[in-house]
Amino acid sequence: MRGQAKANTNIALIKYWGKRQKELNLPVTDSLSVTLDGLSTSVEAVFDKAAVHDSLRINGAIVEGAALQRLTQWLDGFRQAHQVKEFCLVNTQSNIPISAGLASSASSYAAIAGACLRAVAGDVSSENISRWARRGSGSASRSVFGGLVVWQAGEAADGSDSYATPLGAGEGIVVVAAVVSDKPKSISSREGMNRTVETSPLYPGWATTVSRDMAAARAAIKAGDLKLLFEVAEHNAFAMHATALAARPAVRYLQAGSFAIIDEVKRLRSEGALAYVTMDAGPNVKVLTTSDYADVVMERLTPISKKLFRCGVGEGLT
Ligand code: DP6
Repeated sequence: MRGQAKANTNIALIKYWGKRQKELNLPVTDSLSVTLDGLSTSVEAVFDKAAVHDSLRINGAIVEGAALQRLTQWLDGFRQAHQVKEFCLVNTQSNIPISAGLASSASSYAAIAGACLRAVAGDVSSENISRWARRGSGSASRSVFGGLVVWQAGEAADGSDSYATPLGAGEGIVVVAAVVSDKPKSISSREGMNRTVETSPLYPGWATTVSRDMAAARAAIKAGDLKLLFEVAEHNAFAMHATALAARPAVRYLQAGSFAIIDEVKRLRSEGALAYVTMDAGPNVKVLTTSDYADVVMERLTPISKKLFRCGVGEGLT
């Protein structure tokens, strides 16, 4: 039994930061993202009668340890739900630069879910692929779709209503990722969000902020107002980092280099450019802009970044 799928990564405009249930990656709040063009992971999954354990190959190299353990755990749940006994060989190929701070787990688990469901001839509706992708990595639920995507938190204990749906084409959006540091991050998003939920006194305010930001973002998308959408996204990113900073010990991702880029984007904006920032669980800064301003953003950030990546809006799972 063999299946294939390919998915692009995505970047959150309204962040997922906190789980109400850890095993199934059920989030506390809704989140909103844009799928990025050209930064993708292709997966082939083979459920093989002859295999004596699951195996994971990333860009040609056999991977063991935590990544394989996480995959095996995911596969155990998948096998149980689909009455499959065979171990699985998962072969992933990704062109996402590790240094860019653009999550590869989002595209990987979206593609793994798609490939495995195709292999076992399961329910291959996008909604179901999104649910299985979510169980691998929450943000992966959104990479099943292209353009602007909402992952609804849902309420059910089994996660049946916690999946993503598309919200619009996101036409004209360009994301410039500015690399501040290419060292591996000190605190994973998983650990960072768990610690924030458990210890940050600001966490209750986070949920309120997200519901307000989601409403504002939906209105901005409906009106085709990218400036308003980006402004809400920037606010949301700072709110996430502030909430995380108040955790014990502090969950701090931004560095001096991050602030240099944030300041330069602010300066560009004061000169009339449409450019805002968002940051995830790492020091790199992603600039939200449009094709009219992407060149000037690149030009101005080149001297203060280690590397820059420019992406348009990407399509969903293929
Ligand atoms: C800051 O999806 O990587 O990028 O569900 O534990 O795998 P797990 O977490 P993950 O967290 C992403 C956090 C974020 C915000 C976002 O993408 O919404």
